[in-house]
Amino acid sequence: MTPFKTRPVLTASLALSLFFTPLIPAHASADLAKKNTCMGCHAMDRKVVGPSYKAIATRYQSQPRTQMVDTLATKIRLGGGGVWGVVVMPANTKISEADAKKLAEWILDSNN
Ligand code: HEC
Repeated sequence: MTPFKTRPVLTASLALSLFFTPLIPAHASADLAKKNTCMGCHAMDRKVVGPSYKAIATRYQSQPRTQMVDTLATKIRLGGGGVWGVVVMPANTKISEADAKKLAEWILDSNN
């Protein structure tokens, strides 16, 4: 009789994991952004020192995705300026390449 007892539990945990799966990467990247003080200069939907993440996503939405992730990840790590105005983003070299890519993907998805 075990299958009948475990099935509702399995169904419930499958439903829960399906429900939460899309939330996990976004949440992890939001934590990454907070941990790396990105949010001191950026907000989701308004300009602070740097452009809002939604404005960045909108600006690049017609660009090839993989290339944009690489370009933004490099800029996140090395810093740079001249795209949004005269203020330069400082380098964040303590961020790994993998984390920089996660952040870039999260930012590019922020207007969805
Ligand atoms: C000291 C302020 C500051 C901090 C901290 C900061 N940024 Fe920026 N960021 C800027 C500014 C200013 C720009 C605009 C640069 C430009 O005009 O090219 C920018 C631009 C960007 C862009 C768009 C780049 C482009 O070429 O369009 C991304 C993506 C970005 N930041 C992500 C991040 C992430 C992720 C972090 C945290 C690791 C971070 N920023 C931390 C100030 C900051």
